[in-house]
Amino acid sequence: MAESPPPLAERMQRIDASGIRKVFDLAAKLADPINLSIGQPDFDVPQVCKERAIEAIRAGANRYTVTQGDAALREAVAESLRQEFGSLDSPVLITSGVSGGLLLAFLATINPGDEVIIPDPYFVMYKHLVNLIGGVPVFVDTYPDFRLRAEALEAAVTRRSRMLILNSPANPTGVVYTADELRGASDVARRHNLLVVSDEIYNAFAYDGPAPSAWPLYDRVLLLRGFSKTYGMTGWRLGYCIGPEHLIGAMTTLQQYTFVCAPAPFQAAAITALETDASEHIDLFRRRRDLIYDGLRGRFNIAKPGGAFYMFPEAPGGSGTEFVSRAVEAGVLVIPGGVFSESDSHFRIAYAADRETIERGIEVLNRLADG
Ligand SMILES: Cc1ncc(COP(=O)(O)O)c(C=O)c1O
Repeated sequence: MAESPPPLAERMQRIDASGIRKVFDLAAKLADPINLSIGQPDFDVPQVCKERAIEAIRAGANRYTVTQGDAALREAVAESLRQEFGSLDSPVLITSGVSGGLLLAFLATINPGDEVIIPDPYFVMYKHLVNLIGGVPVFVDTYPDFRLRAEALEAAVTRRSRMLILNSPANPTGVVYTADELRGASDVARRHNLLVVSDEIYNAFAYDGPAPSAWPLYDRVLLLRGFSKTYGMTGWRLGYCIGPEHLIGAMTTLQQYTFVCAPAPFQAAAITALETDASEHIDLFRRRRDLIYDGLRGRFNIAKPGGAFYMFPEAPGGSGTEFVSRAVEAGVLVIPGGVFSESDSHFRIAYAADRETIERGIEVLNRLADG
């Protein structure tokens, strides 16, 4: 007799990965897909960082570090932030990726029933983690240009609002918020005493001038940044955050009982990463952004992306899911907008791919838009 599977906690019913899974199931049937679905850089970790990680392993940096992260790395991060912001009066916490930081932040601040304001479209993890913890995501529609409007945020605030999540440069739209937009959002947060969680993991990927940060605008910002995307080290699981001292303290306590610490040898190598110039990759990604935007804008409605490595065109015919299944049948892997949004009218293209792949993708997508 078959054994019954172990029961899962009720909270598992609040999260769902079926949308993206369907695309990957379809994709598994393709022999040579034109893959424009991957949310990570196609370049590898800089050689000097690899050497530093190997050296650190050989030298015995294989044990737990202190929970808040290796002191030398924290100081290197603090110094880079002082250079950017002029001064820094926050402790630094090294996390297991920005994902780790998000989980700790939500656990530390969201009570069941608390509302979290999330501009829609959004990075998938926000919705599912908030739901998992028993919070209530409140989505603010930013279609069709994906700009951040203070009035729309203000209209979403209720007595239960506790947090506002900002992500710029953004996944999945590639939009970069202006300093004015961020100021407007911060003013709403200040008026209603909200914590702003600013996910700036793509801050290096800004193509039309530096991406403004929410950090200097308000004293209740938790700023999250990472190493995954800038240095092609998504598997190394490294991120960091700064914010109000009592919040960083609570997150450190939680990290002690969950992740314990970020991977030790990679923390050593992250110091080297901070000294590495990533501008060559950024220039390459800017050229890719131009190539794909110029290649598609004649036939697709697209808000021009200023950063990250995504764009979010409207689906011809109006259904993201329907268009994506046609695209996948034609050999192009993209993701339906409903995975990142409460509406399914768009689709996500990730252009962390070589020139040939992008050119083939443009050709097939344009053909689909015509037919
Ligand atoms: C907006 C955003 N935040 C956070 C993450 C998670 O990154 P990390 O590898 O640092 O956990 C991603 C990864 O795709 C992302 O797109």
